[in-house]
Amino acid sequence: MKPVSPFLELEEGPRVSVTFDGATLDLPEGANLAAAMLAAGVDVFRHTPVSGAPRAPYCMMGACFDCLVEIEGVVRQACMVAVKGGMDIRKPHGGDDGPV
Ligand code: FES
Repeated sequence: MKPVSPFLELEEGPRVSVTFDGATLDLPEGANLAAAMLAAGVDVFRHTPVSGAPRAPYCMMGACFDCLVEIEGVVRQACMVAVKGGMDIRKPHGGDDGPV
């Protein structure tokens, strides 16, 4: 039986290219962006403005804000976004902004 969770489907389907801080990532189209970036080896999505500590997805349900990224100039929670080809993704505001 095929699982319902999109987190278990990262290896299936067409892949598309996106960039994260200028580096090209090959991600599964339509997958959860946070899960796909983690699976691609991205382990720091942003840094906190207070201590500069690195942050990566934690809750995967839109509650913790540790997955914040800037997508084409708009700061979004990566766990609430689907992968689309050509996305220009960056650490928000140079990597040092967002909730702690
Ligand atoms: S991982 Fe917690 S809001 Fe995205």
